[in-house]
Amino acid sequence: MKIVAIISQKGGAGKTTLAVHLATAAASAGHATAIIDLDPQATAASWGDRRATGVPEVISGQATRLPALVNAARENGADFLVLDTAPNADQVVSLAARAADLVLIPCRPATFDLQAIETTLMLAKAAMKPAYVVLNAVPPRSAVGKEAADGLVAGGAKVAPHHLTHRVAFAHGVIDGRTAQEFEPQGKAAEEVEALYTWLCGTVGMPIHGHNRRVA
Ligand SMILES: Nc1ncnc2c1ncn2[C@@H]1O[C@H](COP(=O)(O)OP(=O)(O)OP(=O)(O)O)[C@@H](O)[C@H]1O
Ligand SMILES: [Mg+2]
Repeated sequence: MKIVAIISQKGGAGKTTLAVHLATAAASAGHATAIIDLDPQATAASWGDRRATGVPEVISGQATRLPALVNAARENGADFLVLDTAPNADQVVSLAARAADLVLIPCRPATFDLQAIETTLMLAKAAMKPAYVVLNAVPPRSAVGKEAADGLVAGGAKVAPHHLTHRVAFAHGVIDGRTAQEFEPQGKAAEEVEALYTWLCGTVGMPIHGHNRRVA
């Protein structure tokens, strides 16, 4: 079982967006997938409530119970877990990062977000887990994403080679508990999620396809 923690001290960076899209990509590729929602705002859990399929499963929980939740998921045959976390929650973020095989840090390519990323990078470093920034809501047709990535790399951060562009499908798809890849299967947002998911599998050492039939 592989565990990915999605963390960012900054609110609205795209943690839940990344969590539901990557978890759905894994579930539709045949992995028994669950999201553990550690955010008291319960955004991912509400998305799960609105979702017709019940896949991926979304479990709401407190970070102090994370080891028990992870064990239960393992015993129930999960092979991919995504941990969605709250902003401004050092302890939750540390616990999630320590439980994970890989940490993803969504960040918007805007000055205030880039300035605020330092504390998140330090939390990831303290957990001693591989951590990558995933640029999110990158303006289309501009050099902003590339400039942000170059700046982050120059500052010593690792940046995922795929980003998510600012697209209506990412926000609209989730309204009724779907994702961009279900809202617009042939769209560019779906393509970006697929590319990020494929990279994630290679990085975390998980096959792209799992053994479950297509369920999501
Ligand atoms: N790539 C994107 N394109 C368009 N809208 C986006 C994108 N990413 C996120 N959003 C929108 O931005 C808002 C914040 O995103 P999201 O809830 O994923 O952030 P978060 O980091 O989980 O926030 P919080 O810190 O409150 O948990 C949401 O309305 C979401 O739909
Ligand atoms: Mg969130």
